[in-house]
Amino acid sequence: MPDGTRAIAEQDRKTRQVSVRQTGECFSCQGDETLLQGMLRLGRKGIPVGCVNGGCGVCKVRIHGGTCDKAGAISRAHVSVEEECSGVTLACRAIPRCDIEVEVIGKMQRGFLQQFGLSGKPD
Ligand code: FES
Repeated sequence: MPDGTRAIAEQDRKTRQVSVRQTGECFSCQGDETLLQGMLRLGRKGIPVGCVNGGCGVCKVRIHGGTCDKAGAISRAHVSVEEECSGVTLACRAIPRCDIEVEVIGKMQRGFLQQFGLSGKPD
């Protein structure tokens, strides 16, 4: 296997740790898993699964302290160009490339934060 190919393969197998700013929860994303796929392993209520293709906007998050690759198109009805430039994305379309922190925002806030006694106001 050529060096470049091996480096990409090793990068794809890597596990990234993701923490949730509001709750302190942590989950991991392996390889090309999206934030939503990793988040679902928390195995609890309040994690909405909608279209899973960037169209419905229920999985909106803000990325802090790291970068994500885009796993596909995201609806401009739910994430504007300006928001995207400030780190907002959709968890079903974001693949973390390093350890990161996410902030749950938008429609996901209420259900996600409810069991922690935290309130969220939709964006
Ligand atoms: S689940 Fe619909 S945009 Fe993420």
